[in-house]
Amino acid sequence: MLERYKKNTQKSAELWDRAVNVFSGGINHNIRTFGLDRCGAYPPFIVRGDGSHIWDVDGNEYVDFWMTHYSQILGHNNPSVREALQAQIELGCHFGALNESQVILAEKIQRAIPLLRKMRFCSTGSESTMYATRLARLFSKKRLIAKARGGWHGGNDSLAFHLKNPFTDEPFFDGVSFDYNDRESFDQMLATCKDDLAAVIVEPVLGAGGGISPEPQFLPHLREQTEKHGILLIFDEIITGFRLCYGSAGVEVYGVEPDLITLGKIAGGGMHLGVYGGREDVMELAKPGTQDSRWVGGGTFSSHPMAMAAGIAALDELHKRREAYSKLNQMGEAFRSRLNTLFDERSPFGIATGIGSIIFVSIMKNKIELPLTAQKLSEVLDKEGLDRFQSILMEEGVFGYHGLGALSFAHSESDLTKTIHAVEVSTESLQR
Ligand SMILES: Cc1ncc(COP(=O)(O)O)c(C=O)c1O
Repeated sequence: MLERYKKNTQKSAELWDRAVNVFSGGINHNIRTFGLDRCGAYPPFIVRGDGSHIWDVDGNEYVDFWMTHYSQILGHNNPSVREALQAQIELGCHFGALNESQVILAEKIQRAIPLLRKMRFCSTGSESTMYATRLARLFSKKRLIAKARGGWHGGNDSLAFHLKNPFTDEPFFDGVSFDYNDRESFDQMLATCKDDLAAVIVEPVLGAGGGISPEPQFLPHLREQTEKHGILLIFDEIITGFRLCYGSAGVEVYGVEPDLITLGKIAGGGMHLGVYGGREDVMELAKPGTQDSRWVGGGTFSSHPMAMAAGIAALDELHKRREAYSKLNQMGEAFRSRLNTLFDERSPFGIATGIGSIIFVSIMKNKIELPLTAQKLSEVLDKEGLDRFQSILMEEGVFGYHGLGALSFAHSESDLTKTIHAVEVSTESLQR
């Protein structure tokens, strides 16, 4: 398997041999092997990206669906973002002091998401969810945080548990979970611990847990119940922020207002940014000197001018295209249904999930009943099948994870046609 890929990626093979000598597992983000290592190969080393395409060290070209972990909604190497970064480089990179661009970027974010009445910047999504949950604990004087099973909120200790089926790993501390899209499971969790619960954190659309969009009553139920019991609701919009519309998916698309929101990825224009913010009375506790405040914030590289420059340029571009989101979302919907038709015809156990431009593919041992939950999906997931599916896509020149990833404004019909062909090859190989 993957003989053609291996033949065409000799330089990547050499780099991989060196990488495994210096990095644990050869990588610095667990998913960056793209399953290729489990199929007896290695990931390609990428040197360049432009629009919807990337190139590896051996010169192979791929249609990219991973798009820098969903960050590059404008496409790689967007001219406005590139020029903004070049202009900043001329001035120097970072001074560890206030800069004008952090104010400009925050004002733009606040105009798009007025619910962020006060916010803070940090360098990663993981930090932003760590600080948001810390503030929730400080504010409520309660200790527990609840998250959806399969929800990925970054690597911080408060939230890195119950990520993979059977979801039985012990939280590092003070964490509980419920099944996404399952109101009963949520209510059961509440019944056991609502008096100790500081906050519920949830992605409006479950990302790593399967690209699952919310059932109509799910997010409103979470809001109603958390409000009733004095529990803070945090929307982790690190994937969905500026992804489905110019702003918050939770508020604009699903009509639910949380107490706090976290952002990252797109808001930083593909550079390192985490944002957390929302209610003023909660965010007040991050202000040094406030009564009852504890230490929140820091970060040598927070408000890094390069990230600020990229974020401003990206949001300006996206603001110009705010009416075009519906077209991008429709492109995603149509593509997902093409994929599902193909899976129905060829491989009954494939499924394309997501919403708008977010496109996950799962390979399953059995068909799955709706509504989708991470629990149900992970119980039927054919992990080896998915690894093989992704690896063959890569061999066919399509770069993606979680089956695929996300579309950008730079993807074209010919990218999608090439991808459909790669999926056909891939499913044929799975049937063998
Ligand atoms: C929903 C969500 N929250 C948090 C994170 C963590 O962000 P980062 O990787 O920037 O630490 C991610 C990253 O993939 C994410 O998808």
